Amino acid sequence: MYCLAVIEPPEVPWETLRARAREATNKSYSPYSHVRVGAAGLTSDGRFVEGTNVENASYGLTLCAECSLVGDLARQGGGELIALAVVAGDGEPLTPCGRCRQVLMEHGGAELLVDAGPGAAPQRLGDLLPGAFGASDLGTRSTP
Ligand code: THU
Repeated sequence: MYCLAVIEPPEVPWETLRARAREATNKSYSPYSHVRVGAAGLTSDGRFVEGTNVENASYGLTLCAECSLVGDLARQGGGELIALAVVAGDGEPLTPCGRCRQVLMEHGGAELLVDAGPGAAPQRLGDLLPGAFGASDLGTRSTP
């Protein structure tokens, strides 16, 4: 008799992630765009990390919420992100910008699930950033 083991993905507390992301928007420093962004993530070992956007008078130096979330991850000792919710000040989901997708890929990989809002299927980061450049490319593409 054969026994097929079905491996279920871990249950993601999406509402908790959304609530934490909304809470983080209250800390946003966004005097230039007035777009308040909050991000909350779950690590593979069950920790929560948060971030918010931090703008700068030299606009291009602005830190996105996802970048400061990765700073929180490092501050907690690192780890792997498995799920992420990002919202704007209106509480609705905000899709990570291109630069943040690359930053998140480093710490969550292609299977990181990105919230698309209640009732919508979360998106794999690998689908948001296909063909990503990664650490393995450094080894295979470096030349003397
Ligand atoms: N922003 C984020 O925090 N994350 C994104 O993925 C997109 C944009 C912030 C940066 C800036 O403070 C504001 O939203 C407007 O671009």
